[in-house]
Amino acid sequence: MTSRTQVAIIGAGPAGLFLAHLLHRAGVSALVIENRSRAYVEGRVRAGVLERTTVELMDKLGVGARMRREGIVHQATNIAVGERLFRVDFTEVSADALVMLYGQSEVMRDLGDAAVEREIPIVYEASEVALHDVDSDAPSVTFTHEGKVQRIACEYIAGCDGFHGVSRGTIPESVRTTFERVYPFGWLGVLADVPPCMHELVYANHERGFALASMRSPTRSRYYVQCSVEEKLEDWPDERFWDEVSLRLGSSVAPHITRGASFEKSIAPLRSMVCEPMRWGRLFLTGDAAHIVPPTGAKGLNLAVSDVIFLAEALVERYAGNGSGSTAGIDGYSARALARVWRAERFTWWFTSLMHRFPTMEGFDRRMQSAELEYLAESKAARAVFIENYIGLPL
Ligand code: APR
Ligand code: PHB
Repeated sequence: MTSRTQVAIIGAGPAGLFLAHLLHRAGVSALVIENRSRAYVEGRVRAGVLERTTVELMDKLGVGARMRREGIVHQATNIAVGERLFRVDFTEVSADALVMLYGQSEVMRDLGDAAVEREIPIVYEASEVALHDVDSDAPSVTFTHEGKVQRIACEYIAGCDGFHGVSRGTIPESVRTTFERVYPFGWLGVLADVPPCMHELVYANHERGFALASMRSPTRSRYYVQCSVEEKLEDWPDERFWDEVSLRLGSSVAPHITRGASFEKSIAPLRSMVCEPMRWGRLFLTGDAAHIVPPTGAKGLNLAVSDVIFLAEALVERYAGNGSGSTAGIDGYSARALARVWRAERFTWWFTSLMHRFPTMEGFDRRMQSAELEYLAESKAARAVFIENYIGLPL
């Protein structure tokens, strides 16, 4: 069976669903094709720090009500270095500087519910998704759903299918360049229904490695410790995890940690990756399909959001005046998106390098980290640079 849409969106993660809502709002037809179930997509545990642009997009799309009720506004973050703890107050740069703590699963649920209400078509559990004739004027997507092979004829394809998706690989190797850094460690993360240890986040640089205290709600906490990617989860019973994270966060934070049974525990590797260009013919890559950032600073979701804002603008411009609109936005998409991507890559690489123990680090490197952290604690100018990046660079 063949059907037709203007834009085929591959993947119903944050990039795919934000794009679907933006296009729907502008009257551009789109179909989302996702290979997993809705429950799986919404159940994935990811970071939960929203930049202002993401918060404002939720509002603009009319899906921000629950976030406004349940999200937690932060106007500062904390950095622990050994036994020292200092606070970075975002209002040093402007009175309304903030980030919103609201889990990605909640964002996905709100987008998913609104998609049902608005009758935005999403095919979940589609298998064998394949992109065809992407460099022609008549691209299409095929997939199998409920045992039937379907073909979607479209005008553009948005590859929003994450790091492991099919879209990036559709671009011939002769056309694309991948820039990559794989870090020699991972993050062991734990979710537990215990109150957060501090009002704001705590990022720790400790001689035993990085640690982070984060939260999802006043009763749910998210903690991480740097570990080797070879570690086994069974070697990390809850007690060992709580002991380690308490040690690394330091003695001014540790007494405030409430321990409890974890209900999610996983190890994630850290990687930086950028694929250039982000467009080939009628295919546009967005979000994790085009780039990966290490989680330090929680930029992944926010970067997917800026990509789709740029792409939606370009497509809406193209479809203006009954399809006779300008292709300037489309032609400029890759360069515009990449400029912001590289700035976020720079910040997450810097923040990761500053906060972790690398196996190859020597005394000099450790002293450089200490000097840089000291500078951040003491200099308002250094903090202004950190804050500008942490709360989100302007589009
Ligand atoms: N066909 C269809 N869908 C696919 C395919 C495929 N071949 N491969 C993957 N997908 C789906 C995945 O199941 C997932 O739901 O594409 C979606 C991609 O979502 P994410 O990986 O979340 O990527 P993105 O939407 O770019 O979001 C980026 O969100 O998940 C976090 O770590 C991520 O913070 C980053 C941000
Ligand atoms: C998280 O809450 O999962 C989180 C918060 C901040 C980060 C990374 C992850 O920098």
